[in-house]
Amino acid sequence: MATRLSALLQRYGLLASLTILLSVMSAPVFAGAPLPDIPKGKGDKCVEDTQFMRESHMDLLLHQRDDTLRRGIRTKKHSLKECLACHVVKDSNNQAISAANPKHFCRACHDYASVNIDCFDCHASKPGKKSASTSTGLGSIKPDSEFGLVGADSLKVGDAL
Ligand code: HEC
Ligand code: HEC
Ligand code: HEC
Repeated sequence: MATRLSALLQRYGLLASLTILLSVMSAPVFAGAPLPDIPKGKGDKCVEDTQFMRESHMDLLLHQRDDTLRRGIRTKKHSLKECLACHVVKDSNNQAISAANPKHFCRACHDYASVNIDCFDCHASKPGKKSASTSTGLGSIKPDSEFGLVGADSLKVGDAL
């Protein structure tokens, strides 16, 4: 009886580990799903350590977590424009692509991870000519779309970049 029970347990134990193994193997990362193809940045390093940037770039960028809008403090180092200057992706005609193109640097991981950002409603998503400065000092803001700059006029910022 005891031996039959242990045989049974062994069998079920084996089944359990097989089930776990199978579910691990069918997890996306093992199923050969394409990993994001992240375009390489210009130069030999990012503004911060690459691993830090992978995990924490949003902390450097998000308005509510930085001082730019609240106190008019701007550091060029973590400026979105600088990010896009180094992380520009060119198409076959050697033209910088915008965030409308899935190959855009910022979309490489975001599409993969289903992250949505609204940044490019207001900010240009590719480097370009500086637009004329306005009285609100928002000269560096050059939205991709016509409906950009929503609410930007009401934001108080020190001076133009
Ligand atoms: C409603 C319009 C609007 C949206 C949406 C928006 N911004 Fe801004 N952002 C501004 C304005 C206006 C400024 C101040 C203008 C300036 O500094 O030249 C600014 C400044 C910044 C700055 C500092 C200046 C610079 O050039 O780097 C960063 C960084 C920034 N935004 C990042 C982001 C990110 C990241 C997102 C998306 C999560 C975002 N913004 C979404 C309007 C917007
Ligand atoms: C001087 C050029 C330069 C600037 C400015 C710059 N980067 Fe980078 N960035 C790089 C380089 C080079 C790498 C490293 C690529 C690698 O290791 O393969 C990198 C790596 C990254 C990575 C990780 C990519 C990966 O392969 O996993 C992220 C995310 C990133 N940068 C975001 C940003 C953001 C956001 C900004 C603006 C705050 C920014 N970078 C500014 C050059 C730059
Ligand atoms: C190496 C992959 C990778 C690259 C490249 C990348 N991101 Fe991200 N980003 C992520 C991931 C993953 C998240 C979600 C993190 C989370 O939810 O904790 C994220 C989140 C964000 C967020 C916060 C969104 C929110 O609502 O909380 C912002 C803002 C952001 N990214 C901006 C950018 C910008 C701008 C670029 C291009 C300059 C960029 N990212 C490039 C991986 C990346």
